[in-house]
Amino acid sequence: MDIKNIPEHELARLREKAKELAGSSTEYQSEYSSLLTRRVNHEPLQYIEEYVPFYSISLKVDERCLIPRPETEFLIELIKDNIKSPNKILDVGTGSGCIALMMKSFFPDSEVTGVDVSEDAIELAKENAKLNSLDVSFFESNLLENVKEKGHDLVIANLPYIPTENLNELDREVIDYEPISALNGGVNGLEVISKLIKEIEDKQYKNINLFLEIDSRKSAETLELLKDWDEVKLFQDLAQKDRYVFAKR
Ligand SMILES: C[S@@+](CC[C@H](N)C(=O)[O-])C[C@H]1O[C@@H](n2cnc3c(N)ncnc32)[C@H](O)[C@@H]1O
Repeated sequence: MDIKNIPEHELARLREKAKELAGSSTEYQSEYSSLLTRRVNHEPLQYIEEYVPFYSISLKVDERCLIPRPETEFLIELIKDNIKSPNKILDVGTGSGCIALMMKSFFPDSEVTGVDVSEDAIELAKENAKLNSLDVSFFESNLLENVKEKGHDLVIANLPYIPTENLNELDREVIDYEPISALNGGVNGLEVISKLIKEIEDKQYKNINLFLEIDSRKSAETLELLKDWDEVKLFQDLAQKDRYVFAKR
């Protein structure tokens, strides 16, 4: 990217960050030019700024996690409107911890757990729990492998859903900086999600409300994976694309 292509509102944010980092006015110039270089090299603004607002909390973000997307904020809204006082909540593929932490913030009496296959993401999610003084338990797990407790009545998963063959269509900002394990959904984009559904079925979880964030092009296939569940509903995002699946069993 050329410096000329960085929009003014981004430059203003970079100047703010440089001010925050600089101890003196001489340091300001060198901080600002190093931030500019990072942005010219396509590093996402959110990683440069280090913190992002997410719904009503602030999260630290860096290359250990996917940057939480507005679609996921809308998922939070959807859950809030459709679920009343869950007992035990599990967030699978927690990344920065955004979903699990917001759940704790909405349902302070619920026991909330977040798991991720990435050790780095778990480390960051724990930092975010401290930052927001929210009591959520985070640990490493490949899907449900290390989840020994049962009785979760609300399970939420925003797992990787981009088909491997489409990864090369992503912007450089995403593919060069965000963790590939957060994006790669395997051959048809549904590899990880379908494994989770199968694990829930195999473990015979009962009385569970499941919310999934999905690739809008895969809604029919996702519904098919859930055909034996008692109730299944599709929801659209703000762009009217099929983006969330709710299922109950
Ligand atoms: C699309 S990101 C979502 C992160 C966060 N939940 C959010 O909404 O911003 C997917 C996350 O799933 C994790 N993940 C991928 N495969 C997994 C697996 N088999 N078991 C657990 N987590 C997994 C990735 O490490 C990544 O943090």
